[in-house]
Amino acid sequence: MKPASVSDYRERARRRLPPMFFEYIDGGSYAEVTLKRNVEDLEVIALRQRVMRDMTKLDMSVKTLGQSLEMPLGLSPVGMAGMYARRGEAQAARAAKAAGLPFCLSTVSVCSVEEVTRAATAPWFQLYMLKDRGYMRELLGRAKAAGCPVLVFTVDLPLPGARYRDVRSGFTGATGLEGALNTAWQGMTHPEWSWDLFVAGGRPHTLGNVQDAVKEGRRVTDFLSWIARNFDRSVTWKDLDFVREVWDGPIVIKGVLDADDARDTVKAGAQGLIVSNHGGRQLDGVKSSIAALPRIVDAVGSDLEVYMDGGVRSGLDVLKALSLGAKACFVGRAWAYALGAGGEAMVSRMLGTLKSELATAMILTGCDDVKSAGPELLDL
Ligand SMILES: Cc1cc2nc3c(=O)[nH]c(=O)nc-3n(C[C@H](O)[C@H](O)[C@H](O)COP(=O)(O)O)c2cc1C
Repeated sequence: MKPASVSDYRERARRRLPPMFFEYIDGGSYAEVTLKRNVEDLEVIALRQRVMRDMTKLDMSVKTLGQSLEMPLGLSPVGMAGMYARRGEAQAARAAKAAGLPFCLSTVSVCSVEEVTRAATAPWFQLYMLKDRGYMRELLGRAKAAGCPVLVFTVDLPLPGARYRDVRSGFTGATGLEGALNTAWQGMTHPEWSWDLFVAGGRPHTLGNVQDAVKEGRRVTDFLSWIARNFDRSVTWKDLDFVREVWDGPIVIKGVLDADDARDTVKAGAQGLIVSNHGGRQLDGVKSSIAALPRIVDAVGSDLEVYMDGGVRSGLDVLKALSLGAKACFVGRAWAYALGAGGEAMVSRMLGTLKSELATAMILTGCDDVKSAGPELLDL
């Protein structure tokens, strides 16, 4: 069966990946209430069907922060994608480039910013603030030197949310012999993945952007525990001054869900924000991104670019978010599932699907230009 929808890529990824990686992608925090809300709140929004309009010409392109996008969509930063397919971030970045879309590289990616830049083009760079400011300065300098056009500063992860599935799968917490046996067993029972990651050029399995800062080990799990200890909870808006000393390009704040925080984002001088709850992976029980979006758009007006992510699983969802005021959407799991399902080819195919779904939604709502999408496209 050929994959046709994001749920099909999810199913393929479920079969191909060891449970510890599939559950890491698929899961959320605690009871996963927000994870479900992100999807369901988008599903229940009704588009308004309009007929008998000339829809021969469609304009799906947008310009934002000096970037031209083929459609209003980008790939959210997803950590450790190089464990879902060999050199996963490089593969996904190539697919994004071919589709004319931005790829945002996670701080905690397997491929370094330099490797992704060589493989595709300089990505948007996502920053987690670590305690070691000397290292942060160096890392921002590397992103700048690579030519990254936009910095995405993630602010909703002062510590990782509790993710029960990761404990159950052995992704976190299983150490020593127990951990080693669990990992070996999961690899042996998923030979296609093991071949891709260990034989066909998937190594090294380190976190390329932070490996020089980690003294105590070389396995991905060593990096994870190092990062858990090194995320900086003391961060405030003042720390943007530190970021700006090194970074003179556009800054997008990722992880805003509250209108007051959105106003502070404007005051802090950022050029954009991403309405996001980290895909339901942080504070469970908070509202969905799509429910938070309209109030944030009202609060900031045209002072900065407003994007959203969380629960976007189709091109129809993209049009719904645009109608509620987003300039563009980002997808996290959609591309991570596709990458896990079969690498770059599957990510390209999935992005093509989202594009044709967006076109269908535009034609059947009578919207011939994504830039004009507004609440009149919805049956509210
Ligand atoms: C497996 C996984 C890893 C993630 N890693 C990061 C990360 O390293 N940095 C970050 O800012 N967000 C990270 N996120 C959050 C995504 O950038 C994005 O906000 C979220 O996936 C959007 O929701 P969606 O998956 O429903 O599209 C991650 C999400 C997933 C699913």
